Order: sequence, then C-alpha cells, then structure tokens
Amino acid sequence: MAWDSKTFDSNDALVAALSNAIATILRNSIEQNGHASMAVSGGSTPASLFARLAVADLPWQRVTVTLVDERWVEADHPDSNAKLVQDNLLQDKAAAASFVPLKTEDAEPFGAENEVAQRLRSIGLPFDIVILGMGADGHTASFFPGATTLAQALTMDQDSLCCAVRPPAAPHDRMTLTLPVILAAGHVFLHIVGDDKWQVLERAFEKGSHEELPVRAVLHQEKVLLDIYYAAE
Ligand code: 6PG
Repeated sequence: MAWDSKTFDSNDALVAALSNAIATILRNSIEQNGHASMAVSGGSTPASLFARLAVADLPWQRVTVTLVDERWVEADHPDSNAKLVQDNLLQDKAAAASFVPLKTEDAEPFGAENEVAQRLRSIGLPFDIVILGMGADGHTASFFPGATTLAQALTMDQDSLCCAVRPPAAPHDRMTLTLPVILAAGHVFLHIVGDDKWQVLERAFEKGSHEELPVRAVLHQEKVLLDIYYAAE
C-alpha cells in the first residue's frame, strides 16, 4: 500500500503536525545538501498551513518554493496560487525563501511548457517535498476529470515536467507538474479538510479509473509513500 493516513480532531491540530513534519524534512535536506525544495498546492486549504510554516525557525534563504499547479492568471489576481503563496507563506521568517513561479508572460499555458520546465529544472529535481490538495471531484494538482490533457499529465513514461490543462468545469487554464515529477519527490503529502472530501478519498482508495478520480494516480502507485493528513473540519 502506497499511502498512510493520519486523522486529526481539527485543522489546527493537523496544521501543527504537518508544519512540524515539513520543517523537519526541510531542515534535514539543508543539513545534508545545503538547500531544500518544496512544491506546494493552491486553493483554499493550505493558507493556514502556510501561515504556520512562515514562522518556522529555518534557514529559509536555503529553501526554494514553487507550485504543484498554477491557474493562468496574473500574479495579483485573487485566484493566483502565486499570490496565495506570496501572501501567506513567503512572510515573516519564510520571506527569505526563493520562489519560482509557474506563470509566464504567455497568454496561454499551452505552449509555455518549455519555459516552465526550464524554471523547474533550475530548482534541481527531484523536489524534497510536494504538498497536494484534492477537490471534491477527485482532482489533485491540476489532474481534472475530463480534461483533454489528463492522460498526458498522468503518463509515467515521459520526460515532460509540466503539462497545460483546461479544466472542463473549473475556472482558468492551468499548468501542472506531471505525475512522474510529483511521485519522484522525497516526500509527498496530501492535505485534506472536510468529511465530503474524505468520502471522495474513500472511493479513491478502491482501485478504479484514474480518469474518474485522478487522485487515484497518487494513491495506487509504488514510487513514494503518500502521507495523508486529514481533519474533518
Ligand atoms: C488549485 C490546486 C488544487 C487544489 C484543490 C483543492 O490550484 O486549484 O492546486 O489541486 O489543491 O483544488 O482546493 P481547495 O483547497 O480550495 O479545496
């Protein structure tokens, strides 16, 4: 089984434990390699985790942060994941970290893959940490059910580091890391809040179509342990 799940009474308790786990991994990587890297998700769930991490006592100047996926909007747009990271994570002590955005000057993510891949390579792969979220439709990263590039993004046998996605039922085109890049990370966390999401995850624990519930692609694999942190509220 390639996942482990921890359940918490509240998101506050979850965030305390998850931020400690992340800080320990970052600290160890910095001690061993002189630097550490972390790809984080956007959406509404991670804001409290980011705020807690921002005050962690770490040599943040040795940490590079990027995104698992980005909505193709300007960096000051309320839906921008870069803005979420800037406003919540790259504050306080973590203001010293480097941030590598995925959004380029291109009007669309389709065609911007090479430039984004170059940026990702400049960080140095694999990432030490990837933090995923999940939507109620079973998407994780920007692996959206029904997206025309879903199969491409989920292909394990590929050199592409990122993939442009047009979600059929969510706003904004996106750029997402591909599945092999996510699963190559040293540690992969899934941060889930809400009973409705847990019910989706329980369905995804059963083997089945990755197109129906793309989160299955990070559950049913043998590359890395998926560390699930769950709180009902
Ligand atoms: C994004 C994401 C996405 C997110 C889920 C959960 O940019 O939308 O990175 O994969 O993790 O949609 O989002 P919520 O936390 O808002 O439910």
